[in-house]
Amino acid sequence: MDTNIESHLKETRVFQPSPAFAKKARIGSLTKYRRLYRESIAHPEKFWAREAKELTWQKPWNKVLEWKAPFAKWFVGGRLNVAENCLDRHLHGSRRNKAAIIWEGEPGEKRVLTYQQLHRDVCRFANVLKRNKIGKGDRVIIYLPTIPEAAIAMLACARIGAVHSVVFGGFSADSIRDRIADCGATAAITADGSYRRGAIVPLKHNVDEALKGKTSIKRVIVFRRAGNDIHIEEGRDVWWHRELEYVDANCPAVALDSEHPLYILYTSGSTGKPKGILHTTGGYLVGTHTTYKYVFDLRDEDIYWCTADVGWVTGHSYVVYGPLAAGATTFMYEGAPNWPEPDRFWRIIEEYAVSILYTAPTAIRTFIRWGDEWVKKHDLSSLRLLGSVGEPINPEAWMWYHKVIGGGRCPIVDTWWQTETGAIMITPLPGATPTKPGSATLPFFGIDAAVVDEKGREVGPNVGGKLIVRRPWPSMLRSIYGDRSRYKKQYWSEFKGSYFTSDGARRDKDGYFWIVGRIDDVLNVAGHRLGTSEIESALVSHPKVAEAAAVGRPDEIKGQGVVVFVTLKSGVTPTPNLKNELRSHVGTQIGAIAKPDEVRFAEALPKTRSGKIMRRLLKEIASGQTVTGDTTTLEDFNVLAKLGSAEE
Ligand code: WT7
Repeated sequence: MDTNIESHLKETRVFQPSPAFAKKARIGSLTKYRRLYRESIAHPEKFWAREAKELTWQKPWNKVLEWKAPFAKWFVGGRLNVAENCLDRHLHGSRRNKAAIIWEGEPGEKRVLTYQQLHRDVCRFANVLKRNKIGKGDRVIIYLPTIPEAAIAMLACARIGAVHSVVFGGFSADSIRDRIADCGATAAITADGSYRRGAIVPLKHNVDEALKGKTSIKRVIVFRRAGNDIHIEEGRDVWWHRELEYVDANCPAVALDSEHPLYILYTSGSTGKPKGILHTTGGYLVGTHTTYKYVFDLRDEDIYWCTADVGWVTGHSYVVYGPLAAGATTFMYEGAPNWPEPDRFWRIIEEYAVSILYTAPTAIRTFIRWGDEWVKKHDLSSLRLLGSVGEPINPEAWMWYHKVIGGGRCPIVDTWWQTETGAIMITPLPGATPTKPGSATLPFFGIDAAVVDEKGREVGPNVGGKLIVRRPWPSMLRSIYGDRSRYKKQYWSEFKGSYFTSDGARRDKDGYFWIVGRIDDVLNVAGHRLGTSEIESALVSHPKVAEAAAVGRPDEIKGQGVVVFVTLKSGVTPTPNLKNELRSHVGTQIGAIAKPDEVRFAEALPKTRSGKIMRRLLKEIASGQTVTGDTTTLEDFNVLAKLGSAEE
């Protein structure tokens, strides 16, 4: 049997970078990209060394790469400090008084921190950490909302060599407890509460719950954000603002080994136990700085907004570290996109004249569902570049993003990467790469990505297979914290010497990558292996559909049958007729083989808090089982209950 993933959805639209954009861009033509890419693959160490030299090193490296597969060391022997690169480096010229962070709270407060102010705040807070006996190598849990203090806490850890592990503010006490236990954290930084859709999320209370019983945590530092009543445990908990009274702003950045751990970030594994993805100092900073600069083609006057929460890797690499290393102005928003009304994002873009917007397909589909009128109320002419990350973007969502948000004038960078890769891996460069809706296009400099069959042989154009990376890159994870054998097995055992991404993909005749989704989600219908993303994109291209999730259920004849869960745009009534219409629509878009056996309408789909559809849960529902698996990462528990009664 053919084990390759079949790909049927053909997208033929191509968008050239505008000459005006290309003219000003760092990489202004496809020819230039191809030449630099070829050079970077022929001599990757030379390429990365040149990029690394743009940063400040307290001691130069003596070897760019030491590769004892699957363990890599980058910039061996070099010493540097990430916080120094993100802050001190910008204090000598005109960037000193430039806004580093512009922030808006959900209730509407506004703050601007210049590079000088941020530097001062980070130094003072780093001294607070030291005062509380937190030092080099200690693990620190950060459980904060998207407020400037989250960036301050991260950078303060980096400044003294403490290792942070940010836990997303939407996670429960159990998740915090598991992560503390796994990394042996001795301190936690949190806030009394945070705002979400007008309500207060009791962050400190969740930490208290997580610390019940035996724990390695000795100190909790609490930032006052929401003013809600909290419990202060004498001898363990201290207030952030009180601690600041005892310190000054003098805190030299510690010269850290290039391979010193910078952070651990937990990501869900298929077996349930979250994996602590370990990133280190030099390579991670070089990777995020380099990709940020080229992919967003940063200009000094940009106001850049990545809507990710700091609790995700996108928040680490492209809200905090990449932008600040590059001296950008990074905008942060604390709350929900539909508070107080569904136009909050567009209101923000208009008010602050945001020029670069980086968001996720799940958000884009949600905005489509809410209706264009919310967008039309605002002037979005400040935007010059749009980005997408997190899942394959359905071509129709791409087109909407392009037309309605970008006014047809902004390039879209659809960036493929993972928590594990640390930085963007496959992406257009906005002044160089012609884009095709739904494709992440071409690999970034120095990234040797390929699509291979089961035996690791590269497949031809338009044949689906597994996405791998054939050589190490600076921002790659170094291990799973405390579990080197799991690291080896999970990422490096399937194809010798190569990193396996767990994603399925194909390349088209131009070499463009089309990610078809996680290999675990691939369906096998009568011997045809179909990626879920194509069926979903076919459904989303129907004018009445807002979102869709495709899953398999056991089928006696075909092996697997296709069940799709569909949410409709506001105002559309679900009818049995519409179900038939959608089945035939998939038939015409992809082919009869992909026609869903069953269409179910749902009010909402179960998603992780980072916006990924939880197909595993839908699979259980589709095959009539009760949901048994781990649901702790589910964003809205009500969705599950409603799905049970989704049938009309
Ligand atoms: C997985 C990684 C990368 C930061 C946020 C998610 C999927 C991500 C794309 C894209 C198609 C994408 C992949 C990947 N993914 N970006 N542009 N096109 N798929 O990080 O939670 O580690 O998830 O997200 O399946 O493996 P993550």
